[in-house]
Amino acid sequence: MPGFERFDDAERKEVQEVLETGVLFRYGFDSARRGRWKAFEFEKAFARRLGVRFCHLCSNGTASLSIALASCGIGAGDEVIVPPFTFVATVEAVLLAGAIPIFAEIDETLCLDPDAVKKTISGRTKAVIVVHMCGAMARIDEMQSVCREHDVVLIEDACQSVGATFQGQAIGTFGHMGCFSFDPVKTITCGEGGAVATDDEKRYRTAMAFADHGHDHIGTDRGREGHPILGTNFRISELNAAVGLAQLKKLDTFLEIQRTHKHRLLEMMRAFPRITPRHIPDDDGDSATFLSFSLPDEAGARKTASALAEKGVDGCFYWYDNNWHYLRQWDHIKGLKAPAKLPIRLIESRPDYQKLHLPRSDSIMSRMISMQIKLSWTEVDIKKRMDAMADIFSKI
Ligand SMILES: Cc1ncc(COP(=O)(O)O)c(C=O)c1O
Repeated sequence: MPGFERFDDAERKEVQEVLETGVLFRYGFDSARRGRWKAFEFEKAFARRLGVRFCHLCSNGTASLSIALASCGIGAGDEVIVPPFTFVATVEAVLLAGAIPIFAEIDETLCLDPDAVKKTISGRTKAVIVVHMCGAMARIDEMQSVCREHDVVLIEDACQSVGATFQGQAIGTFGHMGCFSFDPVKTITCGEGGAVATDDEKRYRTAMAFADHGHDHIGTDRGREGHPILGTNFRISELNAAVGLAQLKKLDTFLEIQRTHKHRLLEMMRAFPRITPRHIPDDDGDSATFLSFSLPDEAGARKTASALAEKGVDGCFYWYDNNWHYLRQWDHIKGLKAPAKLPIRLIESRPDYQKLHLPRSDSIMSRMISMQIKLSWTEVDIKKRMDAMADIFSKI
C-alpha cells in the first residue's frame, strides 16, 4: 500500500478519456459521453473480481457503510455489534444511521472475535459489522455461522482489505454486504471512492437508489426517473472512477509486491521468538498491506515503537495510542459529541460508553505494532529496514 505510489500512463489515459467527453457525472448525458462509463465499468470489473453479482461504486468507504446499513434496513434504535479496533468511520456510520453501536472484544486476528460476538448478541441486535483490519481477515467463516444461527445481518467492512481472500473467496463477500474504500492511502485508490458488494439484487437496488437521492435509474431521462425511497448523495464522479479503474487492473501486481516484501520481513522475524506475528486465519489470503506483530507486554511494545521511530523505520503504528483507530482515544464518540442531538441520545437503554471495559482488546492492542508495507521499497530499503528491525528485536 498505497496505490498512489504506482500512478502512471494507465491512470492518465483513463482520466483523459473522461476529460475528452466533458462528462464528469456518472449518469446520463448519453450522447456526449461517447460510450465512456467509467463508474459502471469499474462496478462490473470489481463485481467480477470479487465473484459477486452486484457492486455499487460510491463517494468513499464511509459512505459505503451508510449505504450498506440502509440497504440492510438498519436504522433507528437497532443495535449493531462493532469492534473497538477499526477506523472510526465504522462507528460513525452506525451512529448517524440512528442505530446503537455495541462494542465486543477482538481476538488475535485483530478483528471481532466470533465467540465474543455470540455472547454479545441480544434480542435487540440487528447486525454485526466485522472489520477486516490491516489487510487481513477476521475468523469470517465462524462469524458467518454465528450471524446465521442468530439471524442477524452480517456486514463486512473490508475497507482496509481489498484483494484479501479466505480459502479462495474474496473478503467482503461472506456477509450480506461488503464495504470497500479506495481513499488516497488504500491499496488501490480512486482519490476518494468506495463500493458496496452483494449477491442480493434487492439490496443492490436499494444501495444504488439510496446513494443517489432515491433515483431508480430506469429510463434515460433523469428528470423523469422514479424515487422509490428517500436517499442522499453518495455518488462518485467519473474522474475518480477512471483513476480507480486503472488501479483495479494493477491490483494483482500490487498484492504480489506486498506479499513478497512481507514474507521477507517475516522470515527475518523468525529468529526472534519474543515477537509474535498477528494470527491470520488464512495466511495465503492476506493482502499484506501491513505486517502486524505483538510484543510480550505493553512496555516492550512502547519501547519497540519508539526505537523503530528513532531508527527511521517509518510507517509503523502503535494503534493503542492512535486517535482514529482504537476506542480508547475516541473521547468524542464515547461522549456522543455531535453538532446536533444524535438519535441515540433519545434511547434510554443506550450503553454508557465512558464505562466500557474491554480488557482483552486492551491487552492485544497495547502489545501490538503494525508496519505499513510499501510498494515502492527498493532492495536497499528492505535490507536497511530488516537490519534496523533485527537490531531492535535483539534487545527485547
Ligand atoms: C476500516 C475502515 N472503514 C472505513 C473507512 C472509511 O473509508 P473512507 O476513508 O474511504 O471514507 C476506512 C478508511 O480508512 C477504514 O480503514
